[in-house]
Parts: sequence; C-alpha cells; structure tokens
Amino acid sequence: MSTDIAKIELEGKSYELPIVIGTENEKAIDIAKLRAQTKYITLDPGFKNTGSTKSAITYLDGENGVLRYRGYPIEQLAENASFLEVAYLLIYGELPTKEQYDEFIASITNHTLVHEDMKQFFEAYPPKAHPMGVLSSMVCSLSTFYPESLDPDRDENAVNLTIHRLIAKLPTLAAWSYKNKMRHPFMYPNNNLDYCENFLHMMFAMPTSEYKVDPVVASALNKLLILHADHEQNCSTSTVRIVGSSHANLYASISAGISALWGPLHGGANQAVIEMLEQINADGGDVDKWVEKAKDKNDPFRLMGFGHRVYKNFDPRAKIIKKACDEILNKLGIDDPLLEVAKKLEAVALEDEYFKARNLYPNVDFYSGIIYKAIGIPTEMFTVMFAIGRLPGWIAQWKEMRENNEPIGRPRQIYIGENERDFIPMARR
Ligand code: SDX
Repeated sequence: MSTDIAKIELEGKSYELPIVIGTENEKAIDIAKLRAQTKYITLDPGFKNTGSTKSAITYLDGENGVLRYRGYPIEQLAENASFLEVAYLLIYGELPTKEQYDEFIASITNHTLVHEDMKQFFEAYPPKAHPMGVLSSMVCSLSTFYPESLDPDRDENAVNLTIHRLIAKLPTLAAWSYKNKMRHPFMYPNNNLDYCENFLHMMFAMPTSEYKVDPVVASALNKLLILHADHEQNCSTSTVRIVGSSHANLYASISAGISALWGPLHGGANQAVIEMLEQINADGGDVDKWVEKAKDKNDPFRLMGFGHRVYKNFDPRAKIIKKACDEILNKLGIDDPLLEVAKKLEAVALEDEYFKARNLYPNVDFYSGIIYKAIGIPTEMFTVMFAIGRLPGWIAQWKEMRENNEPIGRPRQIYIGENERDFIPMARR
C-alpha cells in the first residue's frame, strides 16, 4: 500500500499513523493502533468519514458519478450483461467463461424450489403482512432446513452451495410472499425459463391460464437488477458484513441485510417515492409547493429518492433508469402521469438553491418505481425487488469479509451518562 504517514499532536505529544492508498487513489488514515498509542478513539456517527474495510468489489466516485463492479463500468454491464453474469462477477471476481456460466446457471436452476414445509409458514401471515417482513424471516428460516450451512467455516463447497441456494430461492420466496398476500395459488418455478422470466412467471402466472413473459418486461427487470446489484459499504451491506463478522451463517446475515434495506431512508425509498408522486399528483401536481415543503425544516416531508450519502452529483444508476423509463413506457404503450410529475419535480429541485447547495440529486430510487409499476410489480414489492437485485452484492461482500478473516465488528463509544452513584432503596426515592 503506502509508506506515507499522518502526524497528529495530542496533549503536546506527536503520533504517527500509517496512510492507506487504494487502487483508485483514495486515501485513508489507518487508526487501528490509535487507541493503543493515544488512549483516544475517533467519533463519526453514521460513519460519514470512516471506512470499515478495504474491498475489491465495487468502486464508486460520488463527486464524479462513477460506479464500477470489479472495474467494469455500470453503464456497460447494464447494457450488455445478464443479471446472473453480473452476480457471478461480483461473487467470484471475474466475468464467467461460457463453461463457468453454464455451470453456475445449472446449479442455480436446480435449487429454485423451496422445501414444501415452508408453505405453511406463508399461510400463517395475514394478508396485510409487508413482503419485506415475510422475506427477511423466510430467508432466516431457510437456515433451519440446511443445518450443515450453519457453520460458515466449513469447506468452500458448503458455502458455495449456500450461495447458489440463496440466489435460486430468493425469487421464489419473493413471488410466494406476493401470492400469499393476494391469497392466490403459489406458482412453482419453471426451469425452462431464465432467471427474470421465471420470477415474472411465479409472480403473475395463474394455474388457470397460459402466461407468456413479455421480453420487454424481462429485459427491463434484468437491467434494474444489475443496477441494484452492489453499492460498496451502504447501510444494508454493512449490516450483512457486521452480522457475518460474528461468524453467523450466510442466511442469517442476508436476512439482517433485508431488514436494514427495508428502511425508507435506504431501500424502502423506492416505495416511498411512488407514494410521494401519487400524493403530489392527487394534490394537483403542484411540484413547487412540495419542493418548498421538502426545504422546510419544520415540515417532516422529504423529497424521497433525492439525496445520497456518497453521490454529490448524479447517481449514474438514476441516469440509466430515467432513460429506460421513457424507452420501456413507450414500448409498453403506457402513459404514466407520475413520470411527468417526477420529471417536473427533478427539474424544479435541480434549479433550487437549497438542493444545489446540498448537492441533492435523484438517486437510484427516484425513477425505479416508475418502471416497476409499468411492469406490473405492486408498490409494496418494490423494496423486495431491490433485495433480489442486491443479493449478489451482499453475498460478495460477506464472502470477502470472511475470506479476509476480518475481526468481529465492535465499535467503541464515548460515554456521556451519569458518573458513579450509589443505589437508593425504593423506600427512599
Ligand atoms: C439508497 O448508501 C447507499 O449507497 C444507498 C443506496 C444503495 O444502493 O445501497 O444508494 C440506496 O439508500 C439511496 C437513498 C434512498 N433514500 C432516499 O431517497 C431518502 C431521501 N434521502 C435522504 O433521506 C438522504 O438524502 C439520505 C438518507 C439518502 C442521505 O442522508 P445523509 O447523507 O445523512 O445526509 P443528511 O440527511 O445529513 O442531509 C444533508 C442535508 C440536510 O440538510 P441540512 O441539515 O444540511 O440543512 O440535506 C438535506 C438534509 O435535511 N436533505 C434533504 C434530503 N436529503 C438530504 N432535504 C430534503 N429532501 C431530501 N431528500
């Protein structure tokens, strides 16, 4: 890495800390020995300035709107690759050869079914159950059917089998959570279909009629899943890593990631964006009024789908999705008023001093719901779609953390509570 050092002065003493420089010239001060040397720790709520790891999976440059998976620009992958090709790239580090790809597909295809006993779990959920709550518990419940998977330190083949089982079964669990909500019969995977076609079939086919997957819809889904596949150390990925750092199994780690993604500040934003656009549209489409509300500190309303912890420029994924919106809606012959509302909202916000001063741009969630809606995905399933897309990234990051034998995650704190005091018996309080 680097021989540079950082010097800090504390209470009249000088300390030296190593500098770490990454392959894209990102720089960090390595504080691993800070407390041992100085008794000081650093403090950074939300880890806005703190790196948790060194990773070779995804590179993003927030200032210039750059996103690459294993060095490949997202624009090229979204245009040319299949989602499972990208999943292979993220997890194993290289684009697969034809032989490797066929082997990967064959293994995943043979694991799309879930144990029949799991159907009883679904039936216990009420129709109003949010699919993210169902999905998170179902993924953790998968571990109960594979006790041999509970030890992630077992041989590489056991971990690999768990990886393939998760990628294969998540769409089945997701589609069944929807069918259960609708009180419709479950559709089983059809192994003659590819990954995206199979998911759409399980979501929308009924036993009573023929269902043909529209290639435009399948292609749109493929692109959306690729765009969501990884995003370095975001909230849910950091959750997967820290749960896995206790040597918890992969099912438990992914289940925790799904729960973290559910929040409206993170993956739940794609559902919140559509609900916001519907609210603005129903209110007459006065975007100026809602932009003013978003700026008002006394108003809890935020412009969902806007802003990002890292991107201080356009989220490259939002650019691709916005372009795909027009293409897909035209191909499907859909005229969605919410797209016009979204475009007007974006135009007004991007000209507004408040948003410009804070570098607030549309993020991946701002336009994605328009496409999900156009291809028939119900709003409550939007974040589930995000989870299906993010699964390979979560797996890749968990695998990297375990292969690098990273220590259990256990942050420090600064205590600001009461100093020592003696117990007071109840009678004297
Ligand atoms: C994802 O991390 C990732 O990579 C995540 C993700 C991934 O692929 O994994 O990219 C996916 O989660 C995208 C983000 C989806 N969330 C939303 O769209 C929710 C709306 N956005 C915000 O809540 C917010 O922008 C965050 C949560 C995304 C980022 O929050 P930060 O980095 O903690 O920034 P902040 O909340 O401190 O905001 C800085 C300023 C504040 O104003 P001031 O206190 O400086 O006056 O910007 C304001 C905020 O009030 N602000 C907004 C705003 N987002 C930030 N004001 C109005 N509307 C917004 N959307």
